[in-house]
Parts: sequence; structure tokens; C-alpha cells
Amino acid sequence: MQKRYFLSALMVGLLSAYASNALAQEKFKIGLILPMTGPFASTGKQIEAAARLYMAQNGDTVGGKKVELIVKDDTSAPDVTKRIAQELVVNEKVNVLAGFGLTPLALATAPIATQSKTPMVVMAAATSSITQASPYVVRTSFTLPQAAVAMADWVPNNGIKKVVTLVSDYGPGIDAEKFFKDRLLFNGGQVLETLRVPLRNPDFAPFLQKVRDLKPDALFVFVPSGAGAALMKQFAERGMDKAGIKLIGTGDITDDDILNGMGDVANGVVTSHHYSASHNSPLNKKFVAAFEKANAGLRPNFMAVGGYDGMRVIYEAARATKGGSGDALLTAMKGQLFESPRGPMFIDAQTRDVVHNIYIRRVEKVGGQLYNQEFDTLKDVKDPGKSK
Ligand code: PHB
Repeated sequence: MQKRYFLSALMVGLLSAYASNALAQEKFKIGLILPMTGPFASTGKQIEAAARLYMAQNGDTVGGKKVELIVKDDTSAPDVTKRIAQELVVNEKVNVLAGFGLTPLALATAPIATQSKTPMVVMAAATSSITQASPYVVRTSFTLPQAAVAMADWVPNNGIKKVVTLVSDYGPGIDAEKFFKDRLLFNGGQVLETLRVPLRNPDFAPFLQKVRDLKPDALFVFVPSGAGAALMKQFAERGMDKAGIKLIGTGDITDDDILNGMGDVANGVVTSHHYSASHNSPLNKKFVAAFEKANAGLRPNFMAVGGYDGMRVIYEAARATKGGSGDALLTAMKGQLFESPRGPMFIDAQTRDVVHNIYIRRVEKVGGQLYNQEFDTLKDVKDPGKSK
């Protein structure tokens, strides 16, 4: 009697171990680490919404496995991002890490990806060097040198000779400053001054006063997504536009997430970027409509597209490897070529970085709403940071 009980208990134990193992194997886990609170929460909100939209449109099974999206808030603190990544790899055994709202968050996590051989899809951060921080990084956002060089080529042909640059004082800002300046000098323009403002809680006022005194033809700005509205407001309050100083920059300052609330000061601002919600393609129209419908009218910005395309890269790699992980999954991410809401997009197999069009856009009112209207296209732009 006792023996029979023991045996059946053993059977049940074995069976349930087998079942839970089988269940575990049937999951394809995506650890999505984002700033969901704090000053960069809009990036987290946009990317999570885009990832969920992608799953709603493409199903939650891929390569024969059920996709589990695990979303974690890192509050935009690098040590938190790193700790969460470690937990996701060790405890959850995620197939892939994704997200990374700011450069320092991506850089802090890169060693975890390398040590654990976990592909790490960077959907937001945009400093050129991030892809070199780990061979497991694949980027679906953009790079600042891509956008900054395009602007420096547009400037001299459009009546602008003297420029002051103003950037957030960290990776992407320093990339923007360097690549804009070098290219503008090469093109015969002048950079009167390079100004750097703190990343967190910047007070633009003293910097803008300095710009007024220097009287450039234009002020070139990079601030990260979410910070553009404060800059615009202070630019207007100081009467910079009235003083004849044009505002130009990478598209981060006229971010679709907040553009409509910026008011008249944003009207006419020319920027360079890889995505505008008004990009004229059937695929983008479908994407914007579905995103707005699923998110109470929220307009998708370039962060959302980085997240949406990141999910595409992950899903296709999961399909090709039947829900694989590690090096096999990474290999299947490299070289993907597809149409994104931004336009054609390619993951360069050598650099694991994104190759895409950069558009020159002007803010205009369309149907009473402010949009970045694309009027020029530079095709298939690789990261200029990689050839240096
Ligand atoms: C970054 O930290 O790499 C970053 C964040 C926001 C942007 C661009 C770059 O808009």
C-alpha cells in the first residue's frame, strides 16, 4: 500500500515536472526594459504600446512557441536597468532583451548580453557606439550621426552660414554635435559655439541668452525625446525666432509625441530624422491609425517605430529559429530587410545597426494639427559613426 502510494506520488511528480518543463519550453520570452516612470516615461509608453500593437496584429505565437512579453520599469537609472536585465536572464531565462530608452541604460546592460549570449534589441538609444558595446546588440532605432550629417548637408544650401549648436551633454548629444560640426565645416559653414546642457532638468535660459548674444543664423539642437517642448517654450519666450535665429535640429526636438502641444513656435522648424507620423505610405497610414485607435488617440513617435520594428526583427528571428535563443537567434536578426512604417529598413549584418532613409522635414499645419512634413529624402543611410 505504502509502496503503491510512493510510486504514484513519484509518477505525479515526474509528470508535473515533465509538463512544466514542456510548458517552459513552449514559451518565447521577451524582456522589455523601459523607462515607464520619470522624465523619460513617454519613451516607455510609446515603445510598450507599439510592442503590444505588433503582438495584437501578428499573434502571440511564433516559431511554435507562445510569446511572453515581460515589461519592466527601469525608471531610467542605469544600475536598475542592469539589475533587471540580470534577473530576466537568470530567473526568467528570456530569449531576448529589448527596449533601452537612453544610451546609458543600453551601455550598462551590454555586458550582461555578452556574458549570457542573449540578443539585445536596442529600440530607442541612439549613440553610435552602442552596437560596439556588445556583439549581441542589434539596433532598430537610429543613430544621431545619421540625422546630424543630413542636417549639416541641408544647412549651407538654405541660406544658413553661421550656426551655434546646443546639445544634451551625454552620448547622443556629443555625437550630434561632433558629426554636425565636422560636416558643416567641411561644407564651408561656421560653428560659432558648441553649448552642452545637462541631461536632467536642464535650464535652457542662460544658454539661450548666450545664443542671442552670438547672433547665429541658426541654432542646431539635440535634446532627447520628451525634452523638446521645454526647449521650444524657452526659445519662444526669449524671442529668439523674432530675433531672426532659425531653430534646426535632429527630429528629436519636434517629436510627434508632443509636437502638437508646442504651438506656433514649432511651425516651420526644419529637422532631419528617420520617422514622421505623417510619412506618406500605405503601411505607415495603417500603423498610425491602428496605434491611435489602440491608445486613445496618442500619436506614435519615432520611439514607437523603433519598438514596432524591433518586435518585427525579434518575431522573424524567432520564426526562423523555431523560437531559438543565443547565437542562432542573433544570426537570424542580422541582415533582415523589410518595409517599416518609416520606409525601407535594413539591419546591416556586419554592424548590426540600422540602415534607413533620413528625411528632411518642416513642421506644418495639416488639418489644424502640427506635423513633420517630409520634403527631401536621403536614401539608405548607414551610420556615419561606423566608418570613423
Ligand atoms: C539616447 O539616450 O540615446 C537617446 C534618447 C532619446 C533620443 C535620442 C537618443 O531622442
